[in-house]
Amino acid sequence: MIQLPGLIDPHVHLREPGATHKEDYNSGTSAALAGGFTTVLAMPNTQPPIFDTETLQLALNSAKEKARCDYGQFLGAGPHNANWDTSLPTHAAGLKMYLDSTFGELRLDDMTLWMPHFQNYPKNMPIVAHSESRSMAAAILFSTLYNRPIHIAHISLKEEVLLIKAAKERGIQVTCEVCPHHLFLNTTNFKENGGNLEGGRREVRPRLATQADVESLWENLAVIDCIASDHAPHTAAEKDSPQPPPGFPGLETSLPLMLTAVSEKRLSLDDLIEKMYSNPKRIFNLPDQAETWVEVDEEKIYEIKATEQLTRCGWTPFEGWQVKGKVCKVVLRGKTAFEDGKILVPAGYGQNVRTS
Ligand code: DOR
Ligand code: ZN
Repeated sequence: MIQLPGLIDPHVHLREPGATHKEDYNSGTSAALAGGFTTVLAMPNTQPPIFDTETLQLALNSAKEKARCDYGQFLGAGPHNANWDTSLPTHAAGLKMYLDSTFGELRLDDMTLWMPHFQNYPKNMPIVAHSESRSMAAAILFSTLYNRPIHIAHISLKEEVLLIKAAKERGIQVTCEVCPHHLFLNTTNFKENGGNLEGGRREVRPRLATQADVESLWENLAVIDCIASDHAPHTAAEKDSPQPPPGFPGLETSLPLMLTAVSEKRLSLDDLIEKMYSNPKRIFNLPDQAETWVEVDEEKIYEIKATEQLTRCGWTPFEGWQVKGKVCKVVLRGKTAFEDGKILVPAGYGQNVRTS
């Protein structure tokens, strides 16, 4: 048995408000606890999107009533809300900027729309960019022009990890995350290439990349600050429909997959703790959680099954995968929150990381 700190997932989609048939603060934070996370930071591409006082309050009201682990809620950068004052951002996890292909309405293509957000969002609060390839290079340039840190979400390509490595070597204030699905899946997992992912079930943004890209992420793991699930639940029926939305669930598979990689010596347990706890805690300026830990049976081998997961979406791209390392128990602020597959804290037990 090993003991880990309460892990932090800085990138999840909990679908509140607007799409609670996919997930809500209750089911999403239950899935988080089952996956060894005691803090999750929720993205703003909801319906309506979270981009002002009113919509932030909508999400935070649901969270307050339903969350079972601790949480923060991101604001989204839109075309008309760049006039940030100092008060609203203090209640949010940070600002999310969608600079590339995504799900939802928050996409900003024109760079003149990026400028006031970089200018006005408080410099001591995080900005996270969904940017891919060349738009990532542009986002990193913006961080230098406005002399403020930027965190790049879900990198997936060799050119991206090498760009971030070069930027870090030159002292640019850039940090980044990678998702387990970009470390463990690639285009060889597509049905036509011999895998089991077909149709809408392979759709995710950023897309699954080539084997060479994946190898480059593993080779440059030292450049990558955080492991984030980008838990993006859509129901199996939606994924199998003619217009499937992109996204994979990940809260309950991220830690077992990473522990499996530790058992295969692809990274050390210290690396895992750094990328799933210490670095996200520092980058997103998160509070300590007293008397909080996760107990893991690092020898337990088991099969991933959607039917055993607490997420509402009902499927996983890792169905049938054998993993080594199981979450047995999670203690959050002195209370056993999860044990033997069961959630033991009530809805509303979770606290907002920005107001407690
Ligand atoms: O695959 C994705 N799903 N990429 C995104 O950028 C959004 C996310 C979602 O919200 O479903
Ligand atoms: Zn996302």
